[in-house]
Formats: sequence, C-alpha cells, structure tokens
Amino acid sequence: MMLKKESLISSPVSDISGTVDIPGDKSISQRALCLGAMAKGTTTVSGFLLGQDCISTMEALSSFGVKFELEGTNLRIISRGLKNFTAPKKDLDLGNSGTGMRLLMGLLSSSTFSTRLSGDNSLSRRPMERVAEPLRLMGARIKTSNGCAPVEIIGSSHLKGIDYDLPAASAQLKSAILLASLNSEGRTVIRSPGPSRDHTERMFKSIGIDLNYGIEVSIVGPQELSPSHLSVPKDFSSAAFFIVAGLLNSKDGVLIPEVNMNYTRIGLLKILENMGARFEISNKRKIGEESIADIFVKKTDLKGLTVDPSLISLSIDELPILFIAAACAEGITQITGAKELRFKESDRISAMSEGLKNLGVKTIEKDDGIVIFGGKIKEGIVDSLGDHRIAMSFVIAGMKSEGDIYINNTKNIDTSFPDFVDNANKLGLKVIKSK
Ligand code: S3P
Repeated sequence: MMLKKESLISSPVSDISGTVDIPGDKSISQRALCLGAMAKGTTTVSGFLLGQDCISTMEALSSFGVKFELEGTNLRIISRGLKNFTAPKKDLDLGNSGTGMRLLMGLLSSSTFSTRLSGDNSLSRRPMERVAEPLRLMGARIKTSNGCAPVEIIGSSHLKGIDYDLPAASAQLKSAILLASLNSEGRTVIRSPGPSRDHTERMFKSIGIDLNYGIEVSIVGPQELSPSHLSVPKDFSSAAFFIVAGLLNSKDGVLIPEVNMNYTRIGLLKILENMGARFEISNKRKIGEESIADIFVKKTDLKGLTVDPSLISLSIDELPILFIAAACAEGITQITGAKELRFKESDRISAMSEGLKNLGVKTIEKDDGIVIFGGKIKEGIVDSLGDHRIAMSFVIAGMKSEGDIYINNTKNIDTSFPDFVDNANKLGLKVIKSK
C-alpha cells in the first residue's frame, strides 16, 4: 500500500454526537488583515483564524512594515498605512492562499513600488489574469506568468474608477477591485453574473466606507480607511464538514454554535434540505454586519437530486462535502454549472471523482459538474492533492465507510481548520495520523 507523507486514516464509527468549536472565517480573517494593513494606526480583530493561509498573508504584509500582535484569537494590526509601506526586498510567497494573493493584488495596485507574489504548485496554476485585467484598467501595471503566479504588481498613485462586468461570480475578484477602488479617483461599478460572497462590502460598511452593494456594487473613491475593530464570525465552510457528519451519523445530534449565516455562504443548507435534511437554527443574531446562528443537526436519510444551479455559487466551497453526502444518499445526484470548482486549490471535480471511484462509488465526471450514484462507501486510498477541503471531505467519508480510508496529502487542512482532526475525534470520529 503506497502512503504519502502527512496521511490520515479515518475509520468507520457507528454514531457521533457533541458540540463543535469552529474557527474564525477564513475569507473575513483575510480581509481583516488587508483592511488593518491599509489603515494607519492600530486595528483590532476578534475571532481571527490563525490558519496557514492567513499566516502567509501576514508574512507578506510584514515585508511592508506591518506588525501583528496575537493573543488567542484577538489580533492587533499595527500599520503606518498603505501610503507608507516599505518596498519588499524579495518575492513574497503566498503559499496555498488564492484569497491572499488576489486581495494583495488589489491592495498593491495603489502602492508606489514593485512587488512580486509567488505561491506553491497549486496556487501557481490558478487563474490570475482575470484579477489583473480590471486592475490594469484602473491604472496598475501587472504582469502574470502565462496568466498565473508569479505575479508582478507595479502600483500607481493615480488609479481611476472603472465600470466593470465580472466574467465570473467571484468574490475574490470583486474584492481585489474594491480594495483598489479605495485609492482610485471617481466611481467604480462592478456588475456580477450572479451572487458571490459579500464580506468585503459588509466590512466596508461596518467601518464607515460609503458604498452601495448587491449584485451590482458601486463605490466612489478615494475614501479614507481608519483603524477600527473587526469581528470575525465562525466559518460556515468549516462548519459544513460537521453539518454533513451530523446528518449522516448522529442519533443525538451535533451542535455547531455561532456560525456565520451570510446568505451568500449557506446554499449547502438549502441543497441538503432539498435532499430531505432538517436543521434547527437558533439564537440568530448579528456580529458587525454579518448574521450568525447556532446550527443543530441530527441523522436523516438523504435522497439524491438534481442540484439547482442557482445554488452553486452560494455553496462553492461546500461542494466537496456535498459530494460525500450525495455518495451516502439514496439515488442519483447531478451537479452542473460548477466549472469554477476546477480552478480551486485542486481541480475539485476530478479530485473528488477519482477519490470516490477509489472508494467504490460510481461517478460520471462532466466538464462543469458530476453525477454521483449514491450507495455504499468502501475502504480504500484517496489523494487529496494537497487540497484542504478534499482532505476533510474524505475524513468525514471514513466515518460512513465499510473499512478504513487512507487520505494522502492532508497537511493543508491547516490552511483553514488547524484543529479539524481534534474536533472530529471529540465528536466520536476515529481519525489518526498514519505513521
Ligand atoms: C473566497 C471566494 C471564493 C471561495 C474562496 C474564498 C473569498 O472564491 O471559493 O475559497 O475569500 O473571497 P471566488 O472568488 O472564486 O468566488
């Protein structure tokens, strides 16, 4: 049996229950780092996610002279402000973090020096030209390497607002333009072919930046960014693994407190409801401009279905774990309109399809989706290809399989959910590191 380093073994268990402590939202933590670095003074952040992706962004921002002080999940960001950044002496390595690289491209568009951003093998094959194009129209000079990283950004102090139709409903792309718009002259209008996460817009609003947002976002620059306090809610995308775990295998139920319920993130709940699931959502409240709630979920029999394509962009990061739910459901699940999955930390359609096949689940891979024939998951070996969400999805699958699942290349779970394995074992899953 061939095992690669950093492998996990997830074994079948008959029942799980308990409460899960979900870490801070990755998207919002990354945005907090950028906003804190851009503002002159001390920005405080609570609920911060110290995952490897955020650490990569912090290291990159440190090269400009930004300082960080961390106490638990409370972070202080001390900055001289974007206009006083020092030019970095070397290339900045964003590791596995697509969000970090794309947000920094927007932020650096109004710097007055040149910066080169690089990444790991996964990040170096992800599309960056779609981010570079609107930023060039605003006045930044950006060179990509065949459309990908390494990316060189030579900012301009004379950016101008643009009127732009996004080619895809991408929050990272929209957010890069929004960060640049803060130091641009005139109005920026961004139109999207569909909804995408709107955390940047909400965070702007919470700190007094004037903008209108919805499917079309409109902002007039320049606008002064002052230091502030930013609260990070718990990450729905991390909660998703335990929502599905509870649905598949918990008679007494799994409680996941204080999860971000932003409507652009919770498409998975709607899809699972359409498959027969029921959730108890309680204690609804707000932190900053984001809604949060407690989610309680118990074992339910799920039925396969054809997923409504309008829910795809609202569940984009949760599709790998949805594939596991579909593999355990009765009947066939069909997913279309999900081509963006091919451009994530791995090609998630092919990574999930290969993994499921190795576990005896019949799948048909399509250009923009997959067909999954629900039934039994068998023991076997899968490769997560270094993609955190693929790795965590197959760990959850192990709980329902007929024998052990060996999952290779799991190190990058640390990018978004460093305590994932501990949380899983506390709930009653059986996950160990392979020797
Ligand atoms: C993110 C947006 C999504 C998501 C990614 C994080 C963000 O990507 O898949 O993990 O923080 O804005 P898109 O920008 O492609 O929507």
